[in-house]
Amino acid sequence: MHSFSWNLCTSALYLLSVVATGSAANWPNGPFTTSTRWITDASGNIVQYSGINWAGHPETMVPEGLQYQSVETIVSKLKSAGLNSIRLTYAIQMIDQIEANGGKDIPIRTAFINALGQQNGTAIYNAVVKNNPTFGEQTTRLQVFDAVAAECNKQQIYVHLDNHVSKAQFCCTPFDGNSWWQDTYFDAANWTRGLAYMANHGKNWPNLMSMSLRNELRQPLDNKTLFSDAYNWQDWYQFVQQGVQAIHKANPDLLVFLSGLDSDTTLQPVTEQTALTPGTEIFNRSVVTPYPSKLVLELHNYANMLGGPDFSNCTQLQEDLGTDGFSALASNNSDPWPIIVSEFGFPINDTTGDDYFVQCLMKYVADSKAGWIQWTLQGSYYIRQGTQDSDEGWAILNHDWSDWRSSKYVNGPLKNLINATMSINGQSANGTAQPGGGTNSSGSSGSGNSSSGGSGTGPPTMSGVAAGRSAPTDFYGFYGVLLFSVATLLAVHVMG
Ligand SMILES: *[C@@H]1O[C@H](CO)[C@@H](O)[C@H](O)[C@H]1NC(C)=O
Ligand SMILES: *[C@@H]1O[C@H](CO)[C@@H](O)[C@H](O)[C@H]1NC(C)=O
Ligand SMILES: *[C@@H]1O[C@H](CO)[C@@H](O)[C@H](O)[C@H]1NC(C)=O
Ligand SMILES: *[C@@H]1O[C@H](CO)[C@@H](O)[C@H](O)[C@H]1NC(C)=O
Ligand SMILES: *[C@@H]1O[C@H](CO)[C@@H](O)[C@H](O)[C@H]1NC(C)=O
Ligand SMILES: *[C@@H]1O[C@H](CO)[C@@H](O)[C@H](O)[C@H]1NC(C)=O
Ligand SMILES: *[C@@H]1O[C@H](CO)[C@@H](O)[C@H](O)[C@H]1NC(C)=O
Ligand SMILES: *[C@@H]1O[C@H](CO)[C@@H](O)[C@H](O)[C@H]1NC(C)=O
Ligand SMILES: *[C@@H]1O[C@H](CO)[C@@H](O)[C@H](O)[C@H]1NC(C)=O
Ligand SMILES: *[C@@H]1O[C@H](CO)[C@@H](O)[C@H](O)[C@H]1NC(C)=O
Ligand SMILES: *[C@@H]1O[C@H](CO)[C@@H](O)[C@H](O)[C@H]1NC(C)=O
Repeated sequence: MHSFSWNLCTSALYLLSVVATGSAANWPNGPFTTSTRWITDASGNIVQYSGINWAGHPETMVPEGLQYQSVETIVSKLKSAGLNSIRLTYAIQMIDQIEANGGKDIPIRTAFINALGQQNGTAIYNAVVKNNPTFGEQTTRLQVFDAVAAECNKQQIYVHLDNHVSKAQFCCTPFDGNSWWQDTYFDAANWTRGLAYMANHGKNWPNLMSMSLRNELRQPLDNKTLFSDAYNWQDWYQFVQQGVQAIHKANPDLLVFLSGLDSDTTLQPVTEQTALTPGTEIFNRSVVTPYPSKLVLELHNYANMLGGPDFSNCTQLQEDLGTDGFSALASNNSDPWPIIVSEFGFPINDTTGDDYFVQCLMKYVADSKAGWIQWTLQGSYYIRQGTQDSDEGWAILNHDWSDWRSSKYVNGPLKNLINATMSINGQSANGTAQPGGGTNSSGSSGSGNSSSGGSGTGPPTMSGVAAGRSAPTDFYGFYGVLLFSVATLLAVHVMG
């Protein structure tokens, strides 16, 4: 039990004091590495992710939205908000199909027809080509991913590639066959092959800075044996090593994000260096990869969707986040990590910024100076859970991707969070601030709480890891929460 502070400058680890001059000319100035709790560019300047998710993993396996807008228009729009990165999601099934097809990918016309039917698939294909005239009969799914990455590169947006699922479909329930290694669709060998394929393919994308191993690992409740025998940290550690090594063998430049258990809500044994149960090993970066300074942690938070005490009690939420892993960002942590909140989200409307949970979480993320990637960009899906042209109420874009769903949200809470995230020691973290850059943190708390009228002088402090919730090994505790929320998970809003 201890508390911690976000004070950025107290640690002896922060010795550098030279401030380099960032330059648009050498953007993205990769490859990136990690330095204590920061991600740094090739010159040692701090880089922060202020990003948005862009789905490409559901049934069509084509990045969403192109029947409504061009790739260029969409990237320009997210750039205009000040976002600097996307988490682009893909399905392992796409690579499985390429491998099974002699190395050749499927044209998007076929992909749309396969997922949407002959008539609607053809109509969507035609609309996509109308908006994006460089695409045509020969254009494949991966070439659309290439086009998204290339446009992001042109507009100086970093790309993070996320393996979201094995079988292409909307994600994530504990019953969907995609949840854990050796679940129905989640073949471990196909997975490492897919990671290596994308890591290698991504060498053509100068702005591909990082890849994740797998979105939201979770209880395989469709298979009791698998669940009781294999859903644990010991097995997690073995598969994480396979995944990181597959990526780094193919492309040692990339950062690799590690996601935790319980739908990526906890990495506690990693950040607290406790046994990876039921085994006794302790997580060791050098065992995982020959490039230990390439590892980053990612966590998600949807307490608003899952319910529980930390939904309505901000102190409780902050304590739980600390326990789950965020304590690794504290400057006096002896084993610091960079952490990216690679998903959090909520319905977007003009009153989103007034919501208690939204304010609490965004303030925490801002104060912690974590990187983050909000769920989500896509205002609609080609198809989601059987419904074509399905609306996404949690998106920052509206249904036809033509404008913000709520300008008030984007111009208020979102831009405030970007500003707070990008400001380190009073400098900009887009390639100019360095770890320990010689000035104190002014405690620019992120004004996630729009009604609090700018308190923040001095470094924000947070009570950290007090009597938080039970350890993730307390399966019954989690199962209770899970049962409580399964109906919601299935019926209302299953993320990603
Ligand atoms: C970190 O510093 C805070 C005070 O800012 C202290 O309360 C806490 O115990 C320290 N944590 C560690 C792990 O040393
Ligand atoms: C970096 O941030 C500064 C201050 O926000 C901004 O003026 C500049 O355009 C940014 N540079 C790049 C390359 O984004
Ligand atoms: C095909 O598209 C039309 C109009 O866009 C829609 O009403 C219909 O439900 C779609 N068909 C299927 C099978 O979803
Ligand atoms: C693994 O990939 C092969 C194609 O190479 C495919 O036939 C097989 O179904 C995939 N396995 C799973 C579990 O999806
Ligand atoms: C459950 O998982 C185990 C281990 O992968 C596998 O051997 C078994 O066939 C699976 N059972 C079902 C019903 O899918
Ligand atoms: C981590 O692994 C490396 C390489 O095997 C080893 O040299 C080092 O002692 C390990 N560190 C700890 C703390 O066990
Ligand atoms: C909120 O959580 C904190 C920390 O667990 C606890 O001390 C406090 O009593 C809670 N407040 C309410 C109103 O439940
Ligand atoms: C507006 O957004 C908030 C926060 O996400 C949510 O709680 C609320 O239900 C939304 N309101 C409507 C009318 O959708
Ligand atoms: C935001 O600030 C207002 C006013 O100071 C306060 O009433 C509210 O509880 C705060 N919300 C959170 C989540 O801290
Ligand atoms: C850091 O803050 C302290 C206390 O506010 C101040 O005395 C000190 O001069 C500051 N250091 C720098 C480098 O600004
Ligand atoms: C961004 O944050 C800084 C402090 O970190 C503040 O001085 C500045 O006014 C903010 N800019 C906007 C547009 O909110």
